[in-house]
Amino acid sequence: MSDTQQIKEKIDIVELISEYISLKPSGINHKGLCPFHNEKSPSFMVNRERQSWHCFGCNKGGDVFTFVEEIEGLDFVESLRLLAKKAGIELTTLQKDVHKSQKNRIKDINRLAATFYHNFLIKMAPAQEARDYLLNRGMTTDTLEKWQVGYVVDQWDLLTKYMLKKGHSIDDLVASGLTIKRDNANPQTFKGFYDRFRGRIIFPIQNVHGDVVGFTARVLKESKDSGGKYINTPQTLVFDKSQVVFGLYHAKNAIRAEKLAIFVEGQTDVISCHQAGSSNVVATSGTALTQGHIKLIKRYSNNIAFCFDADSAGIDAAKRAIGIALEEGLNVKIIRIAREMGKDPDEVIKKDRALWTSLVENAQDVMSWYFQIAFQRSDLSNPKIKQEIANELLPEIKKIPYAVEREHWIQELSNRVGVEISVLKDEMARFDLKKETFQPVSEKKKAPQVPLKPQKRSDLLIERFLSITLKYLKTFDSQQISAKMDEALSTSSFGPLYLAIKKGYNDGQLSIDILRESCDQKTSENPVDILLLRADLDFSDYNEGIAQEESKKLLFQIEREWEKERRKLLESQIQSAESAKDKTRLDELMRALISLD
Ligand code: UTP
Ligand code: MN
Repeated sequence: MSDTQQIKEKIDIVELISEYISLKPSGINHKGLCPFHNEKSPSFMVNRERQSWHCFGCNKGGDVFTFVEEIEGLDFVESLRLLAKKAGIELTTLQKDVHKSQKNRIKDINRLAATFYHNFLIKMAPAQEARDYLLNRGMTTDTLEKWQVGYVVDQWDLLTKYMLKKGHSIDDLVASGLTIKRDNANPQTFKGFYDRFRGRIIFPIQNVHGDVVGFTARVLKESKDSGGKYINTPQTLVFDKSQVVFGLYHAKNAIRAEKLAIFVEGQTDVISCHQAGSSNVVATSGTALTQGHIKLIKRYSNNIAFCFDADSAGIDAAKRAIGIALEEGLNVKIIRIAREMGKDPDEVIKKDRALWTSLVENAQDVMSWYFQIAFQRSDLSNPKIKQEIANELLPEIKKIPYAVEREHWIQELSNRVGVEISVLKDEMARFDLKKETFQPVSEKKKAPQVPLKPQKRSDLLIERFLSITLKYLKTFDSQQISAKMDEALSTSSFGPLYLAIKKGYNDGQLSIDILRESCDQKTSENPVDILLLRADLDFSDYNEGIAQEESKKLLFQIEREWEKERRKLLESQIQSAESAKDKTRLDELMRALISLD
């Protein structure tokens, strides 16, 4: 049996997908909100028996492999590796190739480097200062172990030499970001290669599966030439800071259990919160929050709370983060640390564990946080300040999708700045959400609506007819199909499937399995599966009798629609034949038109 077959047998598709989104049983299928596009009502279907999934909203679909590829952003080999690990299967066919990929070699290098740095911190005499510093900050030895915190003294190429001795190539080391290559470097003698992280405390960054994909390193002693306080692994084949959430590997279960993910600003804050038992805390790694980060979080919870610094950079970061999270449909709250409580979560939680808990429990709604920030300005009687406040808040109020809530906040703003509601509403109308600016009064034109891609009515009818036929195979009766219906069906995009149904019926061998086989699978999705899922969505409450009536009705509609479309086509062909003075062609076309009636 092939690797892929073995994996498909071991892995339950419903269980697998449930790790990412919540699914509810729906007839013989499971149903949920599609993770690949934004939607309010579920059109994402999973069928356990056929091991397939399909979204009727964005039309993505496939099997366990394509699901993992899509959601994890992996290629096929990587998804195979991940699923094999999950299924506890040794890959036979791909093993050699997998080991060859540089991505995997870099992951190996990272794992080994994390161990090297960690051992250095724990065991080596020159790391005494770093150990003292970390213990002073309150990190326990268990914490150092769990997060594989490390250290290395300030020497040029300790790690690079060690890695070379372990058999790794200098090219792979440079590709991992751990080794830096000077312009004049000599790969034969290894002169001109040196370590990126030196004299720093080193925190490995794990992806959601626990692979070490990069590092972030904090100076131990700041000096004029120690460089930035934190430095990070640059972009590599395995590290993209916009797609990795620091701490998520250790936080994901708690996020799911507590139905909340807390984003803080610093990696040390994450570690400190986890040590204090607040394990649903994560951070980005030296970068602003991205949609990629939010998409990862969304797998575990729809609720997110941000706890960013209260300085102006922190407020700007929070505003951007809120915008992204709201766009992704998450419920957002803000955790505020008042100045007297401490500088960051690390300080708060160390001082008073209960205070942190209450800050989390009393997290603010986004709108009341916006109000608080806006009204921090000093001179509220100054009309210019009032305008500033309105400019800041009206766009946010306009974005609220619920009328009553929107009204509430306009009222609140009106009360607090002492300006009439109608004036505020006029002003709000001027704000263009797409362009994110206030438009001059004269320019209030509506943007033209982009039409949806048209789908022929006959195609929709045929799709419906075939899906009902597949679900209730016994209702198919070729006696009921007129010559026109037959032509409409066999020339549609579902032609091959229709012909297979007809053949199966005539041979007395009509079954789903035979039909599935007859549809050649260029893509991973079989049209039979898609149509069956469609049927489960639309006709699950039918019985055979109702299905029979419905399909009869559909056939007549298909015939009529086909006639209409055919007539239109013939008429336009006749026109061009007339202007081309092509008599024979005109004759032929007229005959066809007459025979339509
Ligand atoms: P902070 O300066 O608040 O650091 O930066 P911290 O996490 O509280 O660290 P300690 O407590 O002083 O040890 C917050 C975050 O901003 C990023 C890092 O991700 C850091 O955790 N940062 C900060 C950088 O990427 N580079 C820097 O030079 C400084
Ligand atoms: Mn700190």
